Amino acid sequence: MGVHAVFLVGFMASGKSSVGQELARRLGWDFVDLDSRIESRERQTVPEIFRDRGEFGFRLAEASALRDLLAEPLKRNRVVALGGGAFVQERNRELLRQWPSVFLEATVPELWRRSLTDGVERPLREDPEQFAKLYAERLPFYRQATVVIETTGKQLAAICVEIESALQLRGTPKDVGSGLSRNDVTGFGTGESQ
Ligand code: S3P
Repeated sequence: MGVHAVFLVGFMASGKSSVGQELARRLGWDFVDLDSRIESRERQTVPEIFRDRGEFGFRLAEASALRDLLAEPLKRNRVVALGGGAFVQERNRELLRQWPSVFLEATVPELWRRSLTDGVERPLREDPEQFAKLYAERLPFYRQATVVIETTGKQLAAICVEIESALQLRGTPKDVGSGLSRNDVTGFGTGESQ
């Protein structure tokens, strides 16, 4: 089988964290949120990092957190939620190439609406026009994920079922044991399945 980590990608407010938590709960896997990792490593919130170091500084911290996460020996399977810009960076996509990734797609009005109500402060969300433009710029990169799941109007459970089925995650052992290398996950994340 060989799938031991799944990476959720998508625009701001696409549900990466809530789907990720639910998917991890259903599978008995760990859940990791890359933005939370960045915040604890940097001892600053994401908005504080943007304020003090700008987007460039945030991207450096993000790339370094992702690189270190991928270098950790995998003791348990995990679902990882990436921030909305992480998969847009070529160096990050390159790091993730051997892993299965899932693009959580939704319509822009739905994403904008969710982004106003989920209580998350987002330095890169300005107004509906800027939001839609940024989404359009990023879409070609998100579409390079291993699978694309349309989420608009769907319940969390239904989204998880689709991901489990697309990546055949059911039946994957909960504990991957020690000594697993990234090369154990072959055939996923190359974008070739698109
Ligand atoms: C960003 C999205 C945020 C966070 C940061 C940058 C982006 O994560 O990583 O504010 O570039 O779209 P969410 O996608 O969880 O909002």
